[in-house]
Amino acid sequence: MITLIILLLSLSQQEPIGIISALDEELAFIKEDMVIETVDTVSNRIFTIGKIYDMPCVCVKAGIGKVNAAMTAEILILKYSVDCVIYNGVAGGIDPDLDIGDIIISKTIIHHDFGQLMPDTFIPFDTIGFIADKYLIEIAVKAADNVKFDPVPQKICKETGHFPEVIVGRIVTGDQFISSEEKRKWIEQTFHADCVEMEGAAVAQVCVINQVPFVIIRCLSDIANETADIDFEEFVVYAAKNSSLIVNEMIKLLRK
Ligand code: ADE
Repeated sequence: MITLIILLLSLSQQEPIGIISALDEELAFIKEDMVIETVDTVSNRIFTIGKIYDMPCVCVKAGIGKVNAAMTAEILILKYSVDCVIYNGVAGGIDPDLDIGDIIISKTIIHHDFGQLMPDTFIPFDTIGFIADKYLIEIAVKAADNVKFDPVPQKICKETGHFPEVIVGRIVTGDQFISSEEKRKWIEQTFHADCVEMEGAAVAQVCVINQVPFVIIRCLSDIANETADIDFEEFVVYAAKNSSLIVNEMIKLLRK
């Protein structure tokens, strides 16, 4: 009888959603709506456990770069048995049709700095990448439709009342903050990417190895050119809010 009760209790408990960002700015809006139950420190990172709109969630700031992202994703999966992983954050634009404020929901995600360096060229080892979970992409698109974004700041777009564009696309990842038009063009031509960031493919790889569904949501804080560092400073909070609004809406839609 006791075994049956324990089994029924465990079946009724939903596994949490794992939410990762690299920076405080990227996690802040999501944690605003969290009812915190516990805070754990594992391998020097803080895992905040609780509920967002009644949905069990574990939120964690991984820090910048692929190693931080990979080890954090592995902890979320092995220690917290997360049902899925949503990565939330900002990125540099690669597709010249996109601008600061626009949002990319990952369809595929590739390491851009993983390959063979020759005297005159770099040959990537992988140009296919990792494929995000179809259902999570669908939920992210629905969520984006429901969200009311703040208009794009006039410093970025002269038109008033211009709202961010949301696309499902290709993200590339490397342990480099890209502030070079030449490198942006190379990434565009080599990977046909929409944006570049520093963690997504590492999280994706860990999720694929562990057979855990994932999706990456990124909003452009800059366009990876020579002024990327200045633009990043100016627009990181606006961009982080846009991607967080989608993640929060996704949680509402994922609630069973
Ligand atoms: N994240 C935000 N902007 C970026 C850029 N330009 N390069 C890499 N990661 C980024």
